[in-house]
Amino acid sequence: MKLERAVVLSQEELYEDTYLMWLSCPPVAKGASPGRFLMLHCGDAYDPLLPRPMSFHRFREAAGERQFAILYDVRGRGTSWLSTRKPGDELTNFGPLGRGYAVSQEAQNLLLVGGGLGIAALIALADQAIGAGKSVTLLQGARTARKLYPPDLLPPEVEALSATDDGSAAHNGYVTDLIPQHLSWADQVFACGPTPMFSGMAKVVREARSRKPVQALLEERMGCGTGVCYGCAVFTRRGVRLVCKDGPRFELRRVFS
Ligand SMILES: Cc1cc2nc3c(=O)[nH]c(=O)nc-3n(C[C@H](O)[C@H](O)[C@H](O)COP(=O)(O)OP(=O)(O)OC[C@H]3O[C@@H](n4cnc5c(N)ncnc54)[C@H](O)[C@@H]3O)c2cc1C
Ligand code: FES
Repeated sequence: MKLERAVVLSQEELYEDTYLMWLSCPPVAKGASPGRFLMLHCGDAYDPLLPRPMSFHRFREAAGERQFAILYDVRGRGTSWLSTRKPGDELTNFGPLGRGYAVSQEAQNLLLVGGGLGIAALIALADQAIGAGKSVTLLQGARTARKLYPPDLLPPEVEALSATDDGSAAHNGYVTDLIPQHLSWADQVFACGPTPMFSGMAKVVREARSRKPVQALLEERMGCGTGVCYGCAVFTRRGVRLVCKDGPRFELRRVFS
């Protein structure tokens, strides 16, 4: 996989410890789509050595090129370093990688379910679906109100509902509590979030006796991002699969039963 140089166009702390960074890197932007990801070197020289996977958060046409954004939480050394980058800085990266979300042409009503920073990958999908004239309901869950993605940054056509674990905003509870009342409306369901959210979702879908397809975007720790190191292997009903190469999009019930 060819290494590319991305130029930082802007960087801001959008909400608590969550950063939005716009990047210019036409070779990586080409072929990128919602649910796919890139591998970003997050350090000077070789420390940390391994690149970090990041989802494509948003796309835009500007300055005669396709640009993309990432939305990330500061978690450890790599993302702390990333949060100190300034416009004009260059980052080494490669991509686009993986199999992203697949929206069926016939599907009109899309239900998007994001837990925590899982929202990062869903916004590009919401943008694209609204642009294609589809109806989108976005259910978002966060620990607390301060960690909710600002609803005013969503396309206005999106119906957005949220849940917070501590009840500081909207529904007091898990985002999965909101799914049953929207499941029958949806033609397709798309999700991204932590493993407990997926387990909860699988239970909700099972209890509703729904056979609707649910595309879940898994996030595993990754070494190479290209199917070489086997660091991202997961067990599925069809045997062991690699999140970076076979995913990150998987049918929910094939991984969480
Ligand atoms: C396909 C894919 C897409 C991703 N998209 C995004 C995104 O859009 N925005 C974003 O903020 N993060 C995303 N992640 C997670 C991101 O890669 C990690 O947050 C990042 O690697 C942390 O690097 P670090 O050096 O700051 O932390 P480290 O020092 O490497 O780790 C600190 C802590 O972060 C957690 N962590 C590290 N890697 C992961 C991981 N892959 N998944 C879950 N938790 C992890 C662990 O709890 C770990 O203890 C994605 C991961 C994958 C696999
Ligand atoms: S990250 Fe190396 S095989 Fe997936």
